Amino acid sequence: MMSAPRPVSPLLAHCPPGLPRAAYVEPDWFAREQSTIWARNWVMAGRVSDLPVGRMRAFSLAGAPVLICRDGQGAISAFHNTCRHRGAELCHTEREMGKLITCPYHAWAYAASDGRLVSMGPATPTDDFLKAENGLQPVSHLIWNGFLLLDLSGRAVLAPDAGTDALNAWPMERLLTGHRSSRLIACNWKVFWENYSECLHCPGIHPELCDRVPVYAKGIMARDEVAQPSQSGTRLKAGTQSWTPSGAPCGPLFPDLTEAQRLSGATFVTLWPTGYIVAHVDHVRAVRLEPLGPTQTRLTAEWYFAPETLDQPGFDAAHVASFAQTVLDQDAEATEMNQRGLASPAFTQARLMPQEYEIHRFHQWVRQAMESA
Ligand code: FES
Ligand SMILES: [Fe+2]
Repeated sequence: MMSAPRPVSPLLAHCPPGLPRAAYVEPDWFAREQSTIWARNWVMAGRVSDLPVGRMRAFSLAGAPVLICRDGQGAISAFHNTCRHRGAELCHTEREMGKLITCPYHAWAYAASDGRLVSMGPATPTDDFLKAENGLQPVSHLIWNGFLLLDLSGRAVLAPDAGTDALNAWPMERLLTGHRSSRLIACNWKVFWENYSECLHCPGIHPELCDRVPVYAKGIMARDEVAQPSQSGTRLKAGTQSWTPSGAPCGPLFPDLTEAQRLSGATFVTLWPTGYIVAHVDHVRAVRLEPLGPTQTRLTAEWYFAPETLDQPGFDAAHVASFAQTVLDQDAEATEMNQRGLASPAFTQARLMPQEYEIHRFHQWVRQAMESA
């Protein structure tokens, strides 16, 4: 008798060890990750539409100061934020710019379009000084679905297995930021990803989310982890369509979504190490990480909406965001709790459960990135 092919379960067939304690607490390990992981992958630097035209902004990329410029025509360029004269920072936070980037120290001026050195203020160089060799050093950038991504190495690839085309049905370019929250969490950035990568904690930590997404109440992330997959196509509680406080959409539904995308209620795109995007039927959300030290991470979450959604009378983006913000706050507390325990000298390394297959994959990615360096 032939049986229909079943989805291959992603559950691990064993309980592998996690990363060693040093990975979560030691400055040396953190510094190596900065150069082998954060400096060699695309890092989210926010939405292009949130960078005002005619302004430049400082950004920290893998610990390196970077300058992001948006000229009067809206074109983006990015450079190392260090003057070729004696190394001064060119921009501290954000400031206006014209066609030139002028160093605030001794007025060396560079073309914003390509970083070429144009003039050197009152200094008078001799013939051995070549302007052409003293332009700003560029940083690779890419605009993807309306996000600005930066890469210090110039060699990063957007991994196709991250599902980077999963957002094609969403009008990403025209969405605008309606709400933003930012906070520091007292945990290693990998602890955040580990928590993101499993749902064993969901029943205990996320009562509201488990009510909205019933499969999470079982401690699993996807239906194909279940021995008897449910025949129901939806992952959201009956009668709800989105991750809003009431479950009702906050505006018109995006018109081009497939039936499966509408029913699932949330399409995730994960971009290690920098962040993730969750696309709902009516709005989109992104969360990005900035590792500040072995035990400190800045978490920034943004909610994006179509202009016609934002224009609705009385529209309250913060209220829409409050549902996912509650979940994010619960996760932040969980990750801080996790980090406090990792500080114990009695902790050596985790023991992963079969349901933590995604953490295992993440650990292998971290190990591989650090070893191949
Ligand atoms: S350090 Fe920039 S002009 Fe001197
Ligand atoms: Fe969670």
